[in-house]
Parts: sequence; structure tokens; C-alpha cells
Amino acid sequence: MNVFGKRKKAPGVLDVIKSRRSVRKYRSGQVPEDLLETVLDAARYAPSAGNRQPWEFVVVRDGNIKKMLVEACFNQDWMLQAPVFIVACINMKIASATYGERGVRLYCIQSVAAAIQNMLLAAESLGLSTCWVGAFSEDRVSMILECPPYVRPCAIITLGYGKEKPEMPVRAPLKDIVHREKFGVPWRDG
Ligand SMILES: Cc1cc2nc3c(=O)[nH]c(=O)nc-3n(C[C@H](O)[C@H](O)[C@H](O)COP(=O)(O)O)c2cc1C
Repeated sequence: MNVFGKRKKAPGVLDVIKSRRSVRKYRSGQVPEDLLETVLDAARYAPSAGNRQPWEFVVVRDGNIKKMLVEACFNQDWMLQAPVFIVACINMKIASATYGERGVRLYCIQSVAAAIQNMLLAAESLGLSTCWVGAFSEDRVSMILECPPYVRPCAIITLGYGKEKPEMPVRAPLKDIVHREKFGVPWRDG
């Protein structure tokens, strides 16, 4: 039997993209190790500039370390409910090795963001909930996790079984964000 039960069909990728929400209330249950690994493994399949894979992940379940991280996240106390934090980091040695300035300023961030989104979607497909947390003191998080100087923490993902399914926050319609052929030409009239 899979995580979706005997008869229930696994949701398609578009269903998962649309149903994922940032969840800030969690149940107390732990995340089974195999599901956690499935989520982490999804990160490896993300695209990255030159396939350099400039990512590293620190999995935190220790209560004391989580408390220190929450302080570093400007006291976003709700995070403590989540049994797992995944700290996504950029390996700046890899980021700077091939593409110089552009690799450091742009490609590595895009690549790690793609890996993070893979994990959020994998978690959603497994019935788990997440929130991408970007507001934190990078120096504090580095210190707490004892990251070497070339490793830059860029996001903390809370992971667990959600206790809420928030409404989708408003999304801009396609006509406001898509241009036809050239910038400023509306995608759709009216
Ligand atoms: C780069 C980034 C940083 C974020 N930082 C935080 C954060 O520090 N705290 C938080 O509660 N949510 C954070 N979020 C989650 C957003 O608030 C959320 O994605 C947005 O409101 C849309 O809601 P949805 O994820 O449910 O679609 C962050 C999301 C991204 C992509």
C-alpha cells in the first residue's frame, strides 16, 4: 500500500503545484525517515546551471538547535511546531567555480530555489506540509549550524504533518504578468 492508500490515485504534478500551501501549524507526529529521504532526494533532480548542483542541506530535528534557528528567524515561533527543518544552503565554492560573477549572483540562487521547490512539491505529494522561510540572519544560522565559510544558508524549510490548509493567497492573473512577443503587449485583450 502506498501513502495514498489502496485505491486513491497519486495526484498529478499540476494538482500538487496548485494544492501546495505554506503551512504554519503542524501536528506533533514525526516525519518517517523514508518520507524525509524521499523529500530530500527530490532536491537532487532539480535543474542547475551546468549541472553543478551547488546545494547542500542540513536536516535539523534537535529541539535546542531548532530553538536557536527560530531566534535567528526573528522569532517566527510557529516554526517550532514542525518536527523537521531542512536548511538549504549554497556551496559557494561550486557556485563560483564555472560561471564567475553570474554563477555567484544568479545561477546558484536559481538552482537552489529549484531544488527547494522540488522538495516542497515532493512533500505535498506525500501528504506532508512545508513552509519556505527566508527571513533570517544568515550569519546567525551559519554560526548555529557551524557552516564552513563557503557555505551560505539561503532558506529553511519547515516540514511535518500540517494542522491547517490555508486558503490560497491571491495570485495575479496571467494577463497582468504575461506579455505577448514583446514586453507591454498584452497576452490577452480585455
Ligand atoms: C523566498 C521566500 C521567502 C519566504 N519567507 C518566509 C518567511 O520568512 N516566513 C513565512 O512565514 N513565510 C515565508 N515565505 C512563504 C510565503 O509567505 C508564501 O509562499 C506566500 O505567502 C504564498 O503563499 P503559499 O506558499 O501558500 O502559496 C517565503 C517564501 C519564499 C518563496
